[in-house]
Amino acid sequence: MTTDLDSIVASAREAFGQAPTPAELENAKAQFIGKSGRITELMKGLAALAVDEKKSRGAAINQAKQAIEAALAERRQALADQELELQLKAEALDVSLPGRQREPGGLHPVMRTMERIEQIFASMGFDVADGPEVESDWHSFTSLNNPPNHPARSMQDTFYVDIQGDDGIPYNLRPHTSPMQVRYAHAHIKKYAGHAVMPEIRVIAPGRTYRVDSDATHSPMFHQCEGLWLGENVSFKDLKVVFTDFCRRFFESDDLQLRFRPSFFPFTEPSAEIDIQFRHGPLAGKWLEVAGSGQVHPQVVRNMGLDPEQFIGFAFGMGPDRLTMLRYGVNDLRLYFEGDIRFLKQFR
Ligand code: PHE
Repeated sequence: MTTDLDSIVASAREAFGQAPTPAELENAKAQFIGKSGRITELMKGLAALAVDEKKSRGAAINQAKQAIEAALAERRQALADQELELQLKAEALDVSLPGRQREPGGLHPVMRTMERIEQIFASMGFDVADGPEVESDWHSFTSLNNPPNHPARSMQDTFYVDIQGDDGIPYNLRPHTSPMQVRYAHAHIKKYAGHAVMPEIRVIAPGRTYRVDSDATHSPMFHQCEGLWLGENVSFKDLKVVFTDFCRRFFESDDLQLRFRPSFFPFTEPSAEIDIQFRHGPLAGKWLEVAGSGQVHPQVVRNMGLDPEQFIGFAFGMGPDRLTMLRYGVNDLRLYFEGDIRFLKQFR
């Protein structure tokens, strides 16, 4: 009695197993438990049976039907799993590929130095001034006691542009920030015109400068920061105090020494190069030049429009590129200007 049911169940299992897609599986299902499926037909045939036979036969058919439904559910699940797997394969992601990220930017190391310099000098009461990079001959040289044809001009050989100033001399790309001494003094005088007293001048002027120079420690475009303090009685001693204090704060160390080495600049008298020496660390023992400096020459004070008997003081011009090299241990200045992200990233 049950063998016919067993064979129906077996052929249903086989048909389901061979259905390659959900649609074909549903078709196969119809053959067994659909409206006129083989099991359904058997159910219909029950009506003709005697009561007790009906009972046992009905139970057997039901069991067979349940077995077929279970096989159907199992195959449905298998086909769904298969489809999901295919889909995942098709949409495969290589999660080991680095993503496209927007990384946070950062300040250029030289700009970090500039900001540091500004902060330190601002805390000492210095104003911060900005000025043109394309300068007149008078501002870059003559006003700084460095007239045309003076041999000292070759110390600051720079680039010229095709525009002539009122004096018939072409404009230059400023070879130093020193023109800002005179420009700032002029602005200062204008600002305090009509006041009973003119306050002293205390300013730094950071910015880009240019020279005909190019190697591992010189770049045709580089940075300088000018400093100027003119007052009633500002002396070389004040220069030493201010600059030493600056260096200690800039390098966050008292473990350094300064040397003021006699030198020459047309716009200062006396003049000195400022060298720095670290007592410890990789640069220990070497004297490294970081700035030019001196007492502002009386002729320069006159060119500012001030009385050299009343405005006395010092100026310096330091190299932020060099200071950055020393602070971070950079050994080639050209790295600053190549824009290589691997270099710049290290300062983020
Ligand atoms: N301008 C000088 C230079 O570029 C540096 C300097 C500035 C020297 C101020 C003395 C005073 O070499």
